[in-house]
Amino acid sequence: MLLVVKDLVKHYVSGGFLSKKEVVRAVEGVSFTLDRGETLGLVGESGSGKTTVGKTVLRLVEPTSGRILFEDRDITSIRDMRPLRKEMQIVYQDPMSSMNPRMRIADIVGRPLQIHGLVSSRRERDDRVRELLERVGLSREHLYRYPHEFSGGQRQRIAIARALASEPKFVVLDEPTSALDVSVQAQILRLLKSLQEERGLAYLFISHDLAVVRNISHRVAVMYAGKLVELASVEEIFGEPLHPYTNGLLASVLEPSPEASAPEEVLPGEPPDPRKPPRGCRFHPRCPIADERCREEEPELREIRPGHWVACHKV
Ligand SMILES: Nc1ncnc2c1ncn2[C@@H]1O[C@H](COP(=O)(O)OP(=O)(O)O)[C@@H](O)[C@H]1O
Ligand SMILES: [Mg+2]
Repeated sequence: MLLVVKDLVKHYVSGGFLSKKEVVRAVEGVSFTLDRGETLGLVGESGSGKTTVGKTVLRLVEPTSGRILFEDRDITSIRDMRPLRKEMQIVYQDPMSSMNPRMRIADIVGRPLQIHGLVSSRRERDDRVRELLERVGLSREHLYRYPHEFSGGQRQRIAIARALASEPKFVVLDEPTSALDVSVQAQILRLLKSLQEERGLAYLFISHDLAVVRNISHRVAVMYAGKLVELASVEEIFGEPLHPYTNGLLASVLEPSPEASAPEEVLPGEPPDPRKPPRGCRFHPRCPIADERCREEEPELREIRPGHWVACHKV
């Protein structure tokens, strides 16, 4: 097992002295594992805590509690994360936000090589960056250009090249194709899959887009209001979803037919305010099959079948 995440909790606390103290319960006890070479898709509506899980696992955000093990080593409270940064990388939805517009591609992609001491001269660095650019489908002539000279898809290729420069084993991909046109999206997904096969990379692939997650994932975790409600192979999530929320998500993206009910009828209402989640099952106010127990008692994530986990009293 490359990565083990146990009971991860992240509360963002704001205010306190003069203003009212507020606790945003972004992640509330999330557990999962990831194998080498595997893609775990993490889906859920906006605000469900996906990005917080990704950043906390990488220790870009400090966990409130829980444990993170990487290659059997507990990294939850390691102080010097620098050696681990080489092994664990992230690609964001908007690559521009993480690129200095005044830096050339050679410096942007070459930076991790320098930081981790993987090259000893500028020439060696530029050679490595040229190889990386070609590998992600760009040209070696792009080396001395600036980020604004590229299209959105090309910039995402640059971000991928930068993430791979230090030869990591694990990459968090946080909505990496969500800002791209569908045709460009498909190209980037193909690139990510071929890089994974070639390098044995493990991905945590975060997206609100079920079609994209289905395309790239081996297993899928469904997140609702800070918790995992279902975790199974991609075949079981899309073929035999068990949690009413997963069912609602899938139904809301199916082709509309004349008889089908509108999406808002499939999944009525809004996710709860993470500052005051409902008691009992967090999904109960929107659930078509909730009963008294669901309003009182919070369901555990249980293994219903080998490898298929569900948090629901009614399953
Ligand atoms: N730095 C922060 N401070 C306070 N609240 C935050 C912070 N980052 C995220 N949140 C809140 O945590 C919840 C989960 O956010 P996020 O992890 O970004 O969800 P997702 O990626 O699924 O959209 C949201 O309610 C969001 O507003
Ligand atoms: Mg997000």
